[in-house]
Amino acid sequence: MSRVAYVNGAYRPLAAAHVSIDDRAFTFGDGAYEVCEVRNGALIEETRHLQRLTRSLASIRIAWPISEAALKIVMREVVRRNRVRDGLVYVQVSRGVARRDHGFPDGWVKPGLVVSARALNPELLAARAAAGVAVITLPEERWAHPHIKTLQLLPNVLAKQAAREAGAFEAWFVDRAGYVTDGASTNAWIVTADGKLVTRQADHSILHGVTRAAHFDVARRLGLWCEERPFTRRDALAAAEAFLTSATTIAIPVISIDGEPVGRGRPGETVAALRRAFHDIAEKSRTIV
Ligand code: PDD
Repeated sequence: MSRVAYVNGAYRPLAAAHVSIDDRAFTFGDGAYEVCEVRNGALIEETRHLQRLTRSLASIRIAWPISEAALKIVMREVVRRNRVRDGLVYVQVSRGVARRDHGFPDGWVKPGLVVSARALNPELLAARAAAGVAVITLPEERWAHPHIKTLQLLPNVLAKQAAREAGAFEAWFVDRAGYVTDGASTNAWIVTADGKLVTRQADHSILHGVTRAAHFDVARRLGLWCEERPFTRRDALAAAEAFLTSATTIAIPVISIDGEPVGRGRPGETVAALRRAFHDIAEKSRTIV
């Protein structure tokens, strides 16, 4: 079955789903995006994803390309047309098409909107969660506002590639003070020896992950204590468990950092419990309305 994407007002087969070379997402990375999980045909944590999109667009002064209600319909239609049951829906908003010039375009330019969806292999994800993953650390070299979900992802791209070339799944950025900030595309967590979940506070140094926020709800239900504070690579190595979260991974155990084992070097019980509980507790919005 051929895939379909929504591009600036029309549903098109992927081969015909094009944007202009003057789209500012293409020339400047001038836009914001969201990745929302689709599970059993439902959108997971849609409300939080759209709230974050609202914040990202406001931070970089881009207007909503269509109303939120219309975007919800488009997301569902793209999921439906691609017959995605388990996977993701991708939403990208740009400042629109204008002759290349760094400052904002003069006058009104309609923001660009692209929505696509694709299936993810649930068995592959489950296998990764069962085995745990390796992480490497790299110096933080993103800009000063990683809390805004912009399309400018070159440092994240290079970090992810460095991880892959090192045989790892993810790279954790470490700030100048030695504290872990964020993963290249996931948030970082540890579980202390006394069973507390620790993740960096949602300041401007990390992306405010939707899955991260939802895990506070999950932890509360499981009776686990959460602390929002920075932790170092050394703290993570000494922790009972470490894990990462994102919309496309949910919670995955981290079993080594820079080649050194975390805890006993195998997936722990806490992250397994969080993973089992997540989809019972997370918001599920039906795609068939
Ligand atoms: N990445 N940190 C960074 C830098 C991210 O890019 C992401 C998401 C996260 C986790 O956020 P959430 O729980 O809302 O997915 C943390 C998405 C999945 C991506 O870029 O594909």
